[in-house]
Amino acid sequence: MRYPKEVVLKDCQEAVIRPLEKADELRLRQFYAAVPEDDRWYMRYDVLDPAVIRKWIDGIGGGTVYSIVALCRDDIVAHASLHMRGYGCTSHVGRLRIMVLPDFRHKRLGTWMLLDLIQLAMEKGLRDLRADFVVGVEDAAIESAYKLDFFKKAVLEGYVKDPRGKRYDMMIMTKRLHKDWGDF
Ligand SMILES: CC(C)(COP(=O)(O)OP(=O)(O)OC[C@H]1O[C@@H](n2cnc3c(N)ncnc32)[C@H](O)[C@@H]1OP(=O)(O)O)[C@@H](O)C(=O)NCCC(=O)NCCS
Repeated sequence: MRYPKEVVLKDCQEAVIRPLEKADELRLRQFYAAVPEDDRWYMRYDVLDPAVIRKWIDGIGGGTVYSIVALCRDDIVAHASLHMRGYGCTSHVGRLRIMVLPDFRHKRLGTWMLLDLIQLAMEKGLRDLRADFVVGVEDAAIESAYKLDFFKKAVLEGYVKDPRGKRYDMMIMTKRLHKDWGDF
């Protein structure tokens, strides 16, 4: 993958996609501070905790998480990551996470970033990708996953709670990877 990569969004705005760098710590904190609370609730970590962001920055180059960011005028506007286990019975499976700032949604930025991570997963020799989504909350993400040939693998009924305690199903989606795009 050649970075930095300039992409033109649906509304002709330009963004640059590149790997997360050690120097991005403050920018990444500012990015997550701008993510709505409702979206942050469904993340696995408290991204407002500077120690969480520090850990992610320290993990750069560690070989198990590969993060890319999209920047617009030097601000991070999206962050996506591929998580690998590196050992054992699920070492062939990568997991994807993505967050795009509300003002930058529906402009294809999510698609550009996910395509990069899918290609990277293929280059790393992974055979499956997995992403978990909250049904009724992350429907936009489910829709974009279907478009990228992810399929519904399982549903954990009532597994997730919203901030008010209402339960939602969690859907596990997976995608089979081929050795290269030419296999399609
Ligand atoms: C899900 C998310 C990453 C999508 O990013 P994005 O940059 O807006 O996505 P794109 O513009 O590339 O859209 C890709 C497809 O997603 C679907 N989509 C996007 N927003 C949608 C919405 N509000 N409702 C329904 N479908 C939607 C569409 O199918 C779209 O394709 P189209 O433009 O051809 O119609 C973004 O909405 C987000 O960050 N959401 C909050 C965090 C989240 O849910 N993360 C997923 C957990 S891993």
